[in-house]
Amino acid sequence: MTARIGVIGGSGVYEIDGLEGAEWQTVETPWGPPSDQILTGRLGGVEMAFLPRHGRGHVHSPSSVPYRANIDALKRLGVRDVIAVSACGSFREAMAPGDFVIVDQFIDRTFERVKSFFGTGCVAHVSLAHPTCARLSALCAEAAAGDVRVHAKGTYLAMEGPQFSTLAESRMYRDHWGADVIGMTGMPEAKLAREAELCYASVAMVTDYDCWHPDHDAVDVAVVIRTLTANSKNAKHLVTQLPALLTDRPETCPCGCDRALDFALMTAPE
Ligand code: ADE
Repeated sequence: MTARIGVIGGSGVYEIDGLEGAEWQTVETPWGPPSDQILTGRLGGVEMAFLPRHGRGHVHSPSSVPYRANIDALKRLGVRDVIAVSACGSFREAMAPGDFVIVDQFIDRTFERVKSFFGTGCVAHVSLAHPTCARLSALCAEAAAGDVRVHAKGTYLAMEGPQFSTLAESRMYRDHWGADVIGMTGMPEAKLAREAELCYASVAMVTDYDCWHPDHDAVDVAVVIRTLTANSKNAKHLVTQLPALLTDRPETCPCGCDRALDFALMTAPE
């Protein structure tokens, strides 16, 4: 089956409801196995592919998620639009727990992950000035609308984890670096999607105020999970709205995501 829309589910989002002909498929890649099998099926007549980023049972930590295999596996299934859902902390009072932020920029502070499909033998430098697809991001904002407050833009700081930030880090990211939200999985996923010439949108679900907020001392995983659980219906609502919004998908992406490698390859062809 060729899937058109890929959804990568983060913490708290391990499946999607209402898929017709749902089937967990094993996909092999040259980068090893993805985080889990991929759930394929039809939603509103559109082929979907769903991958739980941490695996069912949450077995992969943010540092051990096989990001390259995940992106490659979705591409092999024919996915062109990837919607990545993840939990995040917030640096802004106005981005409250329960809100959705459609991320448009990233600051990558991860350091223990392989971040490229390229390297020795084949060298490429793709542009990441605009790391997400503006077309797909706008559709996600529309799809999310309903019971949830949606912020159409936001800068996501990707940290290595697994520990949460210190107070000094939290203040630095917020006051000096201009980050709006913080999470552990947005990178290198977005970089790899760009290298794979996939359209990528990031929907970050706010679960907490990290530790900078005077009224919220430290991040508590129990609170994160409680907020995610309360919000999973909003994430599922977003996913069910997507097929109808993507029926008029242009053949080529107006943002150029599907042509990212056109001027990026440095290695001379043999
Ligand atoms: N995921 C959810 N909340 C987070 C936080 N405060 N920092 C990093 N990752 C998170």
